[in-house]
Amino acid sequence: MMSSLKSSARPKPVLLDCDPGIDDAFAIFLALKSPEIDLVGVTTVAGNQTLPTVSNNAQDLLAFFGSPQVPVAFGEARPLRRDPVVATSHGLTGLGGRTLPRVAGEPASRDGVGFLLDTVFAHRPGELTIVAIGPLTNLARALERRPEVAQHVHEVVIMGGANNAGNMSPVAEFNFFADPDAAACVLNADWKIRLLDLTLTWQSAVPSSIAQRLARTADPIAQTFSAWLDFYSQGETTPGADGPSLHDPCAMAAVIDPSLISTVPAFVAVETQSPWTLGESVVDTAGYFGREPNVQLGTTLDREGFWRLLMGYIPGTE
Ligand code: BDR
Ligand code: CA
Repeated sequence: MMSSLKSSARPKPVLLDCDPGIDDAFAIFLALKSPEIDLVGVTTVAGNQTLPTVSNNAQDLLAFFGSPQVPVAFGEARPLRRDPVVATSHGLTGLGGRTLPRVAGEPASRDGVGFLLDTVFAHRPGELTIVAIGPLTNLARALERRPEVAQHVHEVVIMGGANNAGNMSPVAEFNFFADPDAAACVLNADWKIRLLDLTLTWQSAVPSSIAQRLARTADPIAQTFSAWLDFYSQGETTPGADGPSLHDPCAMAAVIDPSLISTVPAFVAVETQSPWTLGESVVDTAGYFGREPNVQLGTTLDREGFWRLLMGYIPGTE
């Protein structure tokens, strides 16, 4: 299989915090197939569906992609201070359009936050990257338990927020809307963050030529991806594009090949009070608030490069 980077550098250790979720599934696939990444563990969080559902999905997906040995720890079942919300675009199973063989069993841990902390501190300072593609409840709880976790990780790459329009309200994106208090807590902590919001991830909208290539490829992975995209396109719309966007794999691609995504420093705050703008990410790149930047905010995605990377790992689509 093709590799996006030509270097023979050691793979980067990554812990994935997720709520699979159709686009989460593509992120897991990318992580497992890319030689640039060593997926050392997965933590799950209630988001696209309930915690039991997304946790089973994470285990089933790892097995389906040939890596059942990757440990999965079950994380937080509820947002910090609110009732859970689930997404509709992924269906009742969280992986609408194609059901995977069920292999899910006992997790590596039922204390996902503890597992996350143990994994971070089992690595040297600055070594482990966290990719967070669901509501940020686990990360916020980890900061509560051990605030020094922020200094120990290399970087947190987050899919969340909406610099312009939202997908849960006029201004809020799902992951931030589902647990705005956690999003605020995570953005306030002192770690290096790359934040990929909807303005960035909408640039990944599936080109129709790619959807057609997947549909006519007999390989079971291509067929499964095609079925998921068909389903996802019914509930997930991308402004100005025909196909749905794959938000979450953008975050994994950002670790695999940082050159795919340009960023700017920004101060980002999350609204946790107003019923009208709950979960809004307020982006200040002009210094209005006089605050130091707390994230590198994704601005431009190399869409062609992103799809070349992903398709390069899907057998039979050459
Ligand atoms: C985010 O919300 C979820 O539905 C997706 O999995 C993605 O993480 C996009 O707003
Ligand atoms: Ca997700």
